[in-house]
Amino acid sequence: MQVTALDIEAISGLVIDLCGIYLDDSKGYLIESRLGTLAEKHGCRSFAELAKKVRMGGSHALKDEVINAITTNETLFYRDTTPFEAFAFKALPESFDARARSGQPNRLRIWSAAASTGQEAFSLAMTIMDNMPDYRRYDIQILGTDISEKAIERASRGWFADHEIHRGLTPQQLAKYFRPDNGGWRVIDEVRSLVQFRRLNLLEPFIHLGKFDVVFCRNVAIYFTPETRADLFRRIADVMTETGYLFVGSAESLGDLGARFIPHLHCRSVYYRPNLPIPVGR
Ligand SMILES: C[S@@+](CC[C@H](N)C(=O)[O-])C[C@H]1O[C@@H](n2cnc3c(N)ncnc32)[C@H](O)[C@@H]1O
Repeated sequence: MQVTALDIEAISGLVIDLCGIYLDDSKGYLIESRLGTLAEKHGCRSFAELAKKVRMGGSHALKDEVINAITTNETLFYRDTTPFEAFAFKALPESFDARARSGQPNRLRIWSAAASTGQEAFSLAMTIMDNMPDYRRYDIQILGTDISEKAIERASRGWFADHEIHRGLTPQQLAKYFRPDNGGWRVIDEVRSLVQFRRLNLLEPFIHLGKFDVVFCRNVAIYFTPETRADLFRRIADVMTETGYLFVGSAESLGDLGARFIPHLHCRSVYYRPNLPIPVGR
């Protein structure tokens, strides 16, 4: 199925409304390659017809299929390495110090906000287990969320194929935290027990998730328009503890967001901390 200018307009409008991902006019090939089979499967003669069908809301399943097909779930264990070092040696100990002065000294909440198939969330869990031998004494919750139902379903299984395992894990980490299973590898229950996955669209309100000490929101906002991206990070600031840590992708920066976040450098990694508004009258 060939994509026309009208198709691009209809699909990019739909995709931006569904998940915030901005497809410019040059993305015709992406529409063709990712949505072609789906459009044919649902009897649509054009991509514009597919967009119309989704908008008419007849089938939630079709909407999910479009989201699954159009989102880029590329990820790997310990992606870019340095954020996980800064997490281990800065965010983790300092968050516990900050918690020690609070009403919930044993608690730590971490959010992997575009978790894809789970490698980021499991890397955070393994980093904790490697660096905190007494981690069982604490109430540690890692929440992994993603808009893609398919990605979250895979993450929840905690099962990875050989080629995924070989992206980012050392043989020692593999031996310590995974067991062979069904031609691939399954993460051990102890790692799995620290992590929960659920579906969440970052365009929708998430204030109900409560406060997080550490947020990883990496390699998702790069697909959004500048306005959607700015709005997302402002809302993320609202769910971070006053002493929280935010990690973004290595090609991302929050420099244009004004004073809401302050950048810091540790272990060759940039992370951000919320800049609290100055109370009126001071
Ligand atoms: C490239 S992956 C990044 C995974 C991981 N954070 C990393 O850095 O390796 C981007 C993920 O963002 C998800 N995503 C895209 N739009 C989203 C939205 N509106 N809400 C939540 N997740 C979204 C995609 O489904 C995809 O799994």
